[in-house]
Amino acid sequence: MKNKIAKIGIALALAVAVVTTGSVLTSCSDSQAAAGAQFTPQQLADSLYIVLKSDRKVYARDIVTRLKSEGVITPHEEWQANKTLLLPAQMFRRGAEEVDLVPDKPVPFSYSLQSLWPLNYENSMKQTPVVKEGLQHSIDTDGENFYGEETIGDQKYFIGIYPDKAVAAACWECHNDHENRKDDYPEFKQGDVMGGVVIRIPVD
Ligand code: HEC
Repeated sequence: MKNKIAKIGIALALAVAVVTTGSVLTSCSDSQAAAGAQFTPQQLADSLYIVLKSDRKVYARDIVTRLKSEGVITPHEEWQANKTLLLPAQMFRRGAEEVDLVPDKPVPFSYSLQSLWPLNYENSMKQTPVVKEGLQHSIDTDGENFYGEETIGDQKYFIGIYPDKAVAAACWECHNDHENRKDDYPEFKQGDVMGGVVIRIPVD
């Protein structure tokens, strides 16, 4: 009996936690949601970020940097014409575009790599005031995550923004020298927050 009460207590506590933080909008039935989908939007965004960050790191380290240093192949922005590897940011963006194409996702999330000073101007087209605020927050705090909410049309979204830092010389050497940089482009150096991964999750 005690056990049962404890279980009900935990279920209620979880329900309250989900209600107070906004429940994730899923396409599964209420019974499926009650059976176990007790994640807050932030937990879901944080988990997605772990996967995205790991894949970005492995592609940059084990494919781009390794094959370049072994003289096998180099990355190039015009990768199709030059028959080279994609830049890490291009790899990341194409993955995000594939995700956008998947129909009927259990949670219709989206993500992108953003910067207040984008080299690819199209990347900034998804920059809402909340995204700009979050990117600035990561810069001002030298790399803190940012969590917020915004409404687009009739849909409310949870937003998680995770800093993207200049971790290798290749980052700032290429960016600081790129022809797309505008007049207000910073001189990035080691450790600077260059932008952020923005994850958007619809909530009720
Ligand atoms: C050889 C050049 C090159 C290198 C090296 C490079 N980048 Fe980029 N980066 C680009 C280009 C070009 C884009 C735009 C890609 C696109 O979306 O088409 C980009 C995009 C980005 C963006 C998204 C906003 C934007 O500028 O459009 C961020 C953030 C970013 N890079 C950070 C980094 C970091 C951090 C590193 C190092 C780990 C790095 N880059 C390494 C060239 C480079």
